[in-house]
Amino acid sequence: MNICVIGCGAIGTTIAREAEHTPDFKTVYLTDRSHECATKLQEKLSKVSYVPDIVPILSDIRLVVEAASQDAARYYTPLALSAGVDVLMMSVGVLNDEEFQNDVFRLAKRKGAKIYVPSGAIGGIDALSAGKLGDIEEVILITTKPPSAFEGNAYLIEKGIDPSELRVRTDLFDGTAREAVRHFPQNVNVAATVSLAGVGFDRTKVRIVCDPQVKTNEHRLRARGKFGELDFVTRNVPSPKNPKTSHLAAMSAISAIRKITGSSWIGA
Ligand SMILES: NC(=O)c1ccc[n+]([C@@H]2O[C@H](COP(=O)([O-])OP(=O)(O)OC[C@H]3O[C@@H](n4cnc5c(N)ncnc54)[C@H](O)[C@@H]3O)[C@@H](O)[C@H]2O)c1
Repeated sequence: MNICVIGCGAIGTTIAREAEHTPDFKTVYLTDRSHECATKLQEKLSKVSYVPDIVPILSDIRLVVEAASQDAARYYTPLALSAGVDVLMMSVGVLNDEEFQNDVFRLAKRKGAKIYVPSGAIGGIDALSAGKLGDIEEVILITTKPPSAFEGNAYLIEKGIDPSELRVRTDLFDGTAREAVRHFPQNVNVAATVSLAGVGFDRTKVRIVCDPQVKTNEHRLRARGKFGELDFVTRNVPSPKNPKTSHLAAMSAISAIRKITGSSWIGA
């Protein structure tokens, strides 16, 4: 089986390395706006084949894995879906744009292709998406990060808050997921995944907390509804290649690829 990975950063590289040891994968086509990054990875891994343009290989692949950026998701998702190829999307924050979301969901349906959004850097998404089938009263995402994670944040600068001066755990934001992704773009993927799995960007509540005592990013997902209650905490170790990305996000992408291309799916 062949797949195509967009982006040779922390997530793309982890996927390409994993494919190297997976007999089911024959070729991992790889593209990146950095020709150098992609060709370097190609030199190291025997299954990786760099392509400057994915159009010629679309008829030869089972899945496009977008692991690059929102710009890349905007360009490659419709391109792949139009050719009837499924897309696994990591830059899920792009779906905060309702017009784009509607366009690609409609296109997927028309072409009989699928858009997959993995749970990424947060756990509990499976239970939330099942729980939403009954009434959901409340979904709250509480994200806690060390001060360094908020460096240069425009919203905090405007509010006159310097996270590096905080000595105790402090709430920085309390509002809807839609507002949160605007003010805290670093948080966009997790907030978007929770919103899409549950009650949407306007009903999902997000609290952003800065804690000088924590070293890792923590996401606490709480939901209450007809199904009962859910309270799930994920404490993430950063990716060795990109400290802004949680290692779990890359692992979640690999786990999703295995589910999509494999013969069994635990936790579907
Ligand atoms: N869903 C989640 O929970 C989750 C978690 C972490 C990261 N992410 C997202 O996944 C994406 C990849 O993360 P990463 O840590 O691997 O990033 P990274 O910065 O380590 O690597 C991204 C790579 O993509 C390339 N790229 C960017 N835009 C491109 C474009 N338009 N065309 C071609 N190549 C392009 C860059 O050159 C770079 O090599 C990011 O958008 C990130 O926000 C999602």
